Amino acid sequence: MMLEKFVDPLPVMETIQPISFHKGSMFYEVTMKEGHQQLHRDLPPTRIWGYNGQFPGPTFRVKRNQTVRVLWKNELPMKHFLPIDTTVHGAGKNQPEVRTVVHLHGGATPDTSDGYPDAWFTKGFKETGPFFPGKVYTYPNQQQATTLWYHDHAIGITRLNIYAGLAGAYIIHDEEEEALSLPAYSYDLPLVIMDRSFHNDGSLYYPSEPQPPIPGVRPSTLSNFFGDTILVNGKVWPFLEVEPRRYRFRLINASNSRTYQLSLSNGTPFIQIGSDQGLLSAPVHVRNILLAPAERADVIMDFSSLDGEYITIRNHAPAPFPNGSLPDPETTGVLMQFRVLKQLQSEDTSKIPNSLNVVPRLKKRNASRTRNLLLNMTHDQYGREVHLLNNQLWDDPITEMPHLWSTEIWNFINVTEGSHPIHLHLVRFQILDRQTINKEIYQKEGRIVPNGPRIKPEPNEQGWKDTVCANPWEMTRIIVSFGPYTGLYVWHCHILEHEDYEMMRPYVVIK
Ligand code: C2O
Ligand code: CU
Ligand code: CU
Repeated sequence: MMLEKFVDPLPVMETIQPISFHKGSMFYEVTMKEGHQQLHRDLPPTRIWGYNGQFPGPTFRVKRNQTVRVLWKNELPMKHFLPIDTTVHGAGKNQPEVRTVVHLHGGATPDTSDGYPDAWFTKGFKETGPFFPGKVYTYPNQQQATTLWYHDHAIGITRLNIYAGLAGAYIIHDEEEEALSLPAYSYDLPLVIMDRSFHNDGSLYYPSEPQPPIPGVRPSTLSNFFGDTILVNGKVWPFLEVEPRRYRFRLINASNSRTYQLSLSNGTPFIQIGSDQGLLSAPVHVRNILLAPAERADVIMDFSSLDGEYITIRNHAPAPFPNGSLPDPETTGVLMQFRVLKQLQSEDTSKIPNSLNVVPRLKKRNASRTRNLLLNMTHDQYGREVHLLNNQLWDDPITEMPHLWSTEIWNFINVTEGSHPIHLHLVRFQILDRQTINKEIYQKEGRIVPNGPRIKPEPNEQGWKDTVCANPWEMTRIIVSFGPYTGLYVWHCHILEHEDYEMMRPYVVIK
């Protein structure tokens, strides 16, 4: 079945309201529930799992330095509706099927509230007696205004839980940002981008086997998942009617495996003002925005001289990225459409200031340590691809133990044929550069020999990041200062099919 594009209006997720203000913190309650949602005009309602039963979940809009506490409750069914691979670590037959734990992606969060993959809980879990039938997590929000997102992180089934719908936007505002007069309120919207496939009855399709199938294990993980439709805010190919004025959109790639290369059909550039961890030092005009899984781009679109026009967001990224096949311009090559048809409600007083933020560069000479971290791939006993970080499994002893406030350089050396979006919990970092490495020498002798110039990131990658695209046969160097907390965290590839199958490692920030 071929779904018609641009027949549903873009949903705007509701902003969640706190239920109380207690001992200096805003208190929220969120329940993970099964629901049924119509994801396209011509699809029957789809079973989803959502925060408060919604897909995507409600949007948090919080103020910097305002502590937020959330009671996360699990009222999901006991059986999963997507194919669990019980050979995957942490998802064995002896485990409850439906396990959940919430992670605030990009949050500088104490480790007890960070959503460690093993810290999952099941339906009806009680932490502190009958009043708290779930887990209360604390988010200090002591970080710059930016777009974060929250999503499930349960070991071995993260790809399935997020695919089922467990993801939402989390926006931090602050006074510095407010003073800039950027487009705000109803002109400031998150756009949560995901790809999905459907059965004819409207239910979500997630393969239970890789292609070609591998005998001996079923259901099985796969190396990548790519849906054949694109959803924004939970609708397939929606449209948004806009006024002829400026808007701010917070693009969030919440897809399992798909990287996007976004452009606008009328050839105008995006005005990118922010990346994962906050505002860029200055706005950048970009015709193409590359957005790997979990990355965010904060953009301004100016419709003021486009009255009556229809503009689509297109995608040009091959899948798998960067060496797979190009998207079909009729399907996965399209995200959504803007229609500049609304009356201007009032004069547009928003601004795009020439300077947005102070982004001090972390200094290489302050780095106390450099780690070379291999991104590689082998095969398991069934012949399936297993992606690894530094040749280690999730279960292997912890090897990354930076000191609190120490600065380190991490070199991601990608010796696979696909890009891996590498994410570190807790911290924000900067990209130093990318450099090609000699493939032939590596394949013959296993030696890493950089052979190209060190390429600085483009201006829109020069701000604070928490996820970085490490491309094949390149060394991607980042610089990180570890803080503000000590504790147990993780770093991993954000292709969920990789993360769930060994491309994730614990790390500890020590005193
Ligand atoms: Cu989006 Cu471990 O995170
Ligand atoms: Cu994270
Ligand atoms: Cu990966």
